[in-house]
Amino acid sequence: MQLSAEEIASHRSTSSCWLVLDFKVWDVTSYLNEHPGGAAVLLENAGCDATAELRKVHSMDILSYLPKEAFLGTIDDAVLAALPIGGAPAESTGALETERSKELPHISSIVVPNDFEAAANAVMPLKSLTYVLSSSHDGSAILANLESWRAIRFRPRILHDVGIVDPRSTILGTASAFPFYVSPMGQLGRGHPVAEIGLVRALARRGVHGVLSTESTAKVEEVAAAFLDEKKKLAGEQKGAGGDGNRPEAQLHFQLYIPADRAIAIQRIRRARATGVFRSIWVTVDTPVLGKRSADRKLQAAEALAASPELAAHAERAGFGLLAHAGSSQFNSSLTWEDLKWIKEEWGGPVVLKGVQAAEDVALAMRFGVDGVLLSNHGGRQMHDAPDALTTLLEIRTYYPGLVDRLDVFVDGGCRDGADVLKAVSLGAKAVGIGRPFFYALAAYGEKGVERCLDIFSDELVTGMRLAGMKSLDEARPERVNPSRLLRDIWRPEKSRL
Ligand code: HEM
Ligand SMILES: Cc1cc2nc3c(=O)[nH]c(=O)nc-3n(C[C@H](O)[C@H](O)[C@H](O)COP(=O)(O)O)c2cc1C
Repeated sequence: MQLSAEEIASHRSTSSCWLVLDFKVWDVTSYLNEHPGGAAVLLENAGCDATAELRKVHSMDILSYLPKEAFLGTIDDAVLAALPIGGAPAESTGALETERSKELPHISSIVVPNDFEAAANAVMPLKSLTYVLSSSHDGSAILANLESWRAIRFRPRILHDVGIVDPRSTILGTASAFPFYVSPMGQLGRGHPVAEIGLVRALARRGVHGVLSTESTAKVEEVAAAFLDEKKKLAGEQKGAGGDGNRPEAQLHFQLYIPADRAIAIQRIRRARATGVFRSIWVTVDTPVLGKRSADRKLQAAEALAASPELAAHAERAGFGLLAHAGSSQFNSSLTWEDLKWIKEEWGGPVVLKGVQAAEDVALAMRFGVDGVLLSNHGGRQMHDAPDALTTLLEIRTYYPGLVDRLDVFVDGGCRDGADVLKAVSLGAKAVGIGRPFFYALAAYGEKGVERCLDIFSDELVTGMRLAGMKSLDEARPERVNPSRLLRDIWRPEKSRL
């Protein structure tokens, strides 16, 4: 017998919290403390049909994080119709709220990547905005990321014909229009309803690579299909217009979080592979647990306080660091180098490790046969006081000379200027990942915003090549930049060798 609407609607507390999602009833009581989005959003939707609310943030795949016993049964149309519809908790009005302009600038006034952040400020709900700008602890790693790019200077060469420059590159052996790509970011639906679908359409139109997050709002199959459709449409248009045979095509890659349950990881890999769209898999290795994102936690506490005294008391009892101590279903904190074997076998194509932060681990990655490493501190969201990627790149050059030529090395974190991409390439990186500016661009202007952001980065890159005196990326060599300031700060072993 199916559950009645009255029964479902009565489970609205921290001691019993049920949600209806896509005609299925779930008991999420044990997940209240674990939910990275906080307990308040779940309680706000308790006893309700939360399907539409969940879809704004997650795909239904997220339900795989719930224990099997959490599933209580299925309901029909009549029961669903009798249930209240869930909603978002009231927006917190923190200090930031009062400082924000509510006017979205015209897209033509967006000139540099950082302009998108100000624009997104005008349209994004405070909680989503906080999710994007959030970093761990007091933000030391994100600040270091931003500063690292400024610490390297160009050494421009003059009187070199740069009338025509060629910014084309390769990523894992596949042609790329530029040596940058869009980094994987979860929950793009919190920025704009077109979410990842809008992002990949824009990538297809501009011929740029992108990495899709495991935590996407849209399902991996939907994203892959939208990407293929857009490419097909473009191919038709180009044929009609005489074609643009020289421009590399956009490509997608898939970012993989390995959850506690290996069966879920395998299913994710197989689903991504079955689409036939993703060129490589990027396994995120800097998340044994979620970093301490202080701003998110403060907002969640404010939300709980505003929601009810009961929830506030519950949040207090749950205490800090509960997630980190108990582990969560989202991440496998026992992952080791040995796990790469089954991951590689399941995927059967190029594998990149995302989140490498020490030169020794690049040497190990090489030994374990991965195809690439992404030097990254997750945009300052995981280990605080972690090294910025450029410093790690210099560490590799210092202690393992030649290694950067033996596998693809990528960097990300804090790049907000297309010309800066050339600094990383000069030091041996294949490409630079760019995250937040694209989230903000999508949030503020949808697909058009992503296209403009890609255009701004590529325009700055090409102008940078001309000003630095580089006709092609082959001329982006170590001697074309001065990283002395960062080099002074790189890690030194106690003995002279590793
Ligand atoms: C009931 C099943 C649910 C599960 C298993 C679940 C799981 C998760 C996970 C794993 C994350 C972290 C994602 C990341 O790191 O990118 C997350 C974040 C989040 N979830 Fe859920 N979620 C559920 C329901 C919901 C619902 C119903 C809502 C809203 C209506 C919601 C809103 C959010 C928000 C706002 C965040 C972002 C947290 C932040 O600001 O950092 N979730 N959820
Ligand atoms: C909002 C947001 C969501 C992110 N989600 C993921 C994710 O799902 N998987 C992942 O491996 N990295 C994720 N990252 C990290 C990015 O892939 C990337 O390492 C980082 O954003 C680069 O720094 P930048 O934003 O300063 O350019 C996320 C970053 C942000 C800002």
